[in-house]
Amino acid sequence: MRFKGRSAIITGGGTGIGEATALLLARNGARVLVAGRREEKLKEVCGKEEGLSIEYKVCDVSVQSDCAATVETALSEHGRIDILFNNAGIIFSGPSHEVETDRFQQMFDINVKGAFMMCKYAIPHMISAGRGFIVNNSSVLGLKGFAGLSTYSASKGALVQLTRSMALEYADKGLRVNAVCPGGVWTPMFDSYLERAEDADAAQEFMESLHPMGRLADPYEIAEAVLFLCDEKVMFNTGSMLSIDGGIIAK
Ligand SMILES: NC(=O)c1ccc[n+]([C@@H]2O[C@H](COP(=O)([O-])OP(=O)(O)OC[C@H]3O[C@@H](n4cnc5c(N)ncnc54)[C@H](OP(=O)(O)O)[C@@H]3O)[C@@H](O)[C@H]2O)c1
Repeated sequence: MRFKGRSAIITGGGTGIGEATALLLARNGARVLVAGRREEKLKEVCGKEEGLSIEYKVCDVSVQSDCAATVETALSEHGRIDILFNNAGIIFSGPSHEVETDRFQQMFDINVKGAFMMCKYAIPHMISAGRGFIVNNSSVLGLKGFAGLSTYSASKGALVQLTRSMALEYADKGLRVNAVCPGGVWTPMFDSYLERAEDADAAQEFMESLHPMGRLADPYEIAEAVLFLCDEKVMFNTGSMLSIDGGIIAK
C-alpha cells in the first residue's frame, strides 16, 4: 500500500495503459480519478475490482473547461492532487503529405495541448502542497522518427520537451515531472493499428521484430514504470524520459 492516501488523476484511464495504471495505483492504496470521453469505458474500470477507490469524470482533454473541471473534481473528492498521469492520446498513420491539416491539429490538441492544460490546472495545487508527481505518456516515437507516423511522432516529441521544460520550472517547488516512452504495447490503440493494416499478421510480426526483445509490452509493464516515477523514494528524478521499449532506443 505504498500509495495509501495519495490522490491521482489519470487521463485516458478507461482503457489500455491508463486502465492498468489506475488499477495498479488503486491496488496500492491510491484514490484514483479516471478521465476520458467514453463514460462506459470509465465506468467499467471503476467497477472492475471491489474495494478499490476509483471514480470517473467524463473529460475531453482537448477542451479547456473539461480539464479545469477534472482537476476540480479530484480536489473536491480527494482534497488534494498528488499524481497526474497525462496518458490520453490518439494515433493515426499515413505519409505526411496525405495527412489532413485538421487531423494534425486534432493530434496536437489531444496529445500535447491536453497534457499542457491538465498541468496548467493541477500545478498550482501541487505548488501549494509543496509536492506533486506528473508523468506524461510520450512514446519511443517521441525520441525517434518513424515513416508513416510523423504527426504522432511530432506530438510525442513535443511532449518530451514539455516534460523537460516543466521539470526545470518546478524542480525547486517539490514537483517531479517525468515521462514514460513506451515501445509497442498491447492495447486497443495497437489493436486498431493492426486492424487498419493490409496484412495484420505481417504488421504484427514487423512491429515485434523492431523490438530487440522480439515482443510487445503488456500494459502493466508500463503501469509499473509510472508507479516507479511517482514513488517518494525516487525524489531525485525529474525531467527524465524512461524508455520501456524492449530495447529499441538502445539500438
Ligand atoms: N499502445 C502503444 O503501443 C503505445 C506506445 C507508446 C505510447 N503509447 C501512448 O499511451 C497512451 C495510452 O494509449 P493506449 O496504448 O493505452 O491506447 P488506448 O487504449 O487507445 O488509450 C488511449 C486513451 O486515451 C483516451 N483519449 C483519447 N482522446 C481523448 C481525449 N480527447 N480526451 C480524453 N481522453 C482521450 C481514450 O479514451 P476515450 O476515447 O474514451 O476518450 C483512451 O482511453 C497514449 O498517449 C499513447 O500514445 C501507446
